[in-house]
Amino acid sequence: MSLRQRRILIGVTGGIAAYKICELVRRLRDLEAEVRVVMTEGATHFVTPTTFQALSGQPVRVSLWDEQGEAAMGHIELARWAERVLIAPASADTIARLAHGFADDLLSTVVLATAAPVYVAPAMNQQMWASLAVQANVGTLRVRGIGVLGPADGDQACGDIGSGRMLEPHELRDLMVASFGDQPLRGRRVVVSAGPTYEDIDPVRFIGNRSSGRMGFAVASAARDAGADVTLVAGPVALATPPGVRRVDVRSARQMHEAVLSAARDADIYVGAAAVGDYRPSETSEHKLKKASGTPLHLELTENPDIIASLAAAERRPFLVGFAAETRELASYAGEKLRRKGIDMIAANEVGGGKGFEVADNALHLYWPGGDESLPEMPKTDLARQLVARIAERFLSGSGTTP
Ligand code: PMT
Repeated sequence: MSLRQRRILIGVTGGIAAYKICELVRRLRDLEAEVRVVMTEGATHFVTPTTFQALSGQPVRVSLWDEQGEAAMGHIELARWAERVLIAPASADTIARLAHGFADDLLSTVVLATAAPVYVAPAMNQQMWASLAVQANVGTLRVRGIGVLGPADGDQACGDIGSGRMLEPHELRDLMVASFGDQPLRGRRVVVSAGPTYEDIDPVRFIGNRSSGRMGFAVASAARDAGADVTLVAGPVALATPPGVRRVDVRSARQMHEAVLSAARDADIYVGAAAVGDYRPSETSEHKLKKASGTPLHLELTENPDIIASLAAAERRPFLVGFAAETRELASYAGEKLRRKGIDMIAANEVGGGKGFEVADNALHLYWPGGDESLPEMPKTDLARQLVARIAERFLSGSGTTP
């Protein structure tokens, strides 16, 4: 992993997480990146410019009206110098100012003047993050192609617990590294489903399956690294949200159906890696079912909506990639699903006997109308990268219905 000669401008704004940026600057410099720091006035109340100057080895700019600084490297020159602009921590105030195109301090002016990809790593109290104003501003940034990295869930400096923590320095460093890779899906919206669904029988029992979500989460991370804006609709799993990915948690197939259809409304690509329950109990008992010894219990099941087939039937639909989990006759069942569901590609995997579900490695056989390719067994993270590369190739070549 190297960032040799890569030029990264870090904008530090006023928030307690500013102290973590010292570590980020060090880690980026370890990878040989050239780092320059611009601070807002608020940020200087948390960390001094001298600290960042020592760590980056470059003068630190705070004010737009700094004559010496402007003489050394004017703000337009700074904006042109940057290959990436990362604002971390990004306070609610800075996010609002960027959303409204302000240019009354150095950082906001540089953001308007740069042609480089801009990323924000929000950090704020969970209630502030959840506020409609912040969410609307973040939505505006996303629509304009600004990458929103995080925030993460967890303990906050103010004592609250929730969403709003800035991503850790090593996560931001990895995202910067990934941002310099090949990004065929930059500016595209991708929705990924992952994990199982749980279909409740009564308040204590459900019908579920063995999916851990690992394959789908790996696909979401790979799509993010390919530059996409990713929404991950996750069934009940015990996995951390990949940084920079928007996550929607659901439990049942019907909830997943609703969440995917809503997220995929303006998506370019949908990847259905979730193991969606085909059936649910026709009735969910309000109370725990009592055991009646010696009498068989009959459970009537009703078919769940087919999520990917619903998307395929829509007038304006994303490029659709399904998975097929089979215990036998992989090729014929996968081919049949590709045709019946009316989708653009299917990734078939063998499951059962320690394969596919739960484990760290997997192998896939890809089928699309008129072709196929085998991806051998490897870690799901690597496999996901290869899968996303193939999806991007076919999507960009116009092989789907709505490239
Ligand atoms: O989560 P892991 O432990 O990492 O395991 C990964 C995996 C084995 C779950 C994954 O690689 C996989 O195969 N996912 C799809 C499992 C599945 O439900 O396959 P299927 O053959 O039953 O369904 C075919 C396709 O239709 C899938 O894309 C599925 O998401 C979709 N489907 C199915 C039913 C339904 N009601 N709606 C759907 O959209």
